[in-house]
Amino acid sequence: MKLLVLNGPNLNLLGLREPDLYGRGTYAGLEAFVRETASRLGVEVEMRQTNHEGVLVDWIQESRGKFDAIILNAAAYTHTSVAILDAIKAVKARVAEVHLTEPKSREEFRRVSYVGMVAEKTFSGLGFGSYSAAMEYFAKSEMPRGNHA
Ligand code: DQA
Repeated sequence: MKLLVLNGPNLNLLGLREPDLYGRGTYAGLEAFVRETASRLGVEVEMRQTNHEGVLVDWIQESRGKFDAIILNAAAYTHTSVAILDAIKAVKARVAEVHLTEPKSREEFRRVSYVGMVAEKTFSGLGFGSYSAAMEYFAKSEMPRGNHA
């Protein structure tokens, strides 16, 4: 199983950015955590971050045929991006939506999630644990050879 973990705007500033909300862990720390989780679960992982909506759209499009699923923290674009929603639909990507915080219990404008409209599952409010929960979800969905019902 090959997972693509995509991170949107301002997540590069983890550690510095509103630590009361997002914690003191840095983006590099998140990357190390994701790598450790992948090796524990025996899955392959690639993790990227961008501040640009179109780059996320490109990465989603390019993932077709190369990755089994995407773990997507689109950050603020979660709540605004029809382009990301359309890209996920266009390539029929399997997506899990992740958030460090629980957007639904924050400001009203964070209640809408375009990503959530097409994601198989959402994992939020668990800090870095939201990423490992999403990775576990996809790892479990891959049955070992010979174990298919
Ligand atoms: C976030 C939640 C979003 O509402 C916010 O815009 C972010 C981060 C999270 O991980 O909790 O940038 O996706």
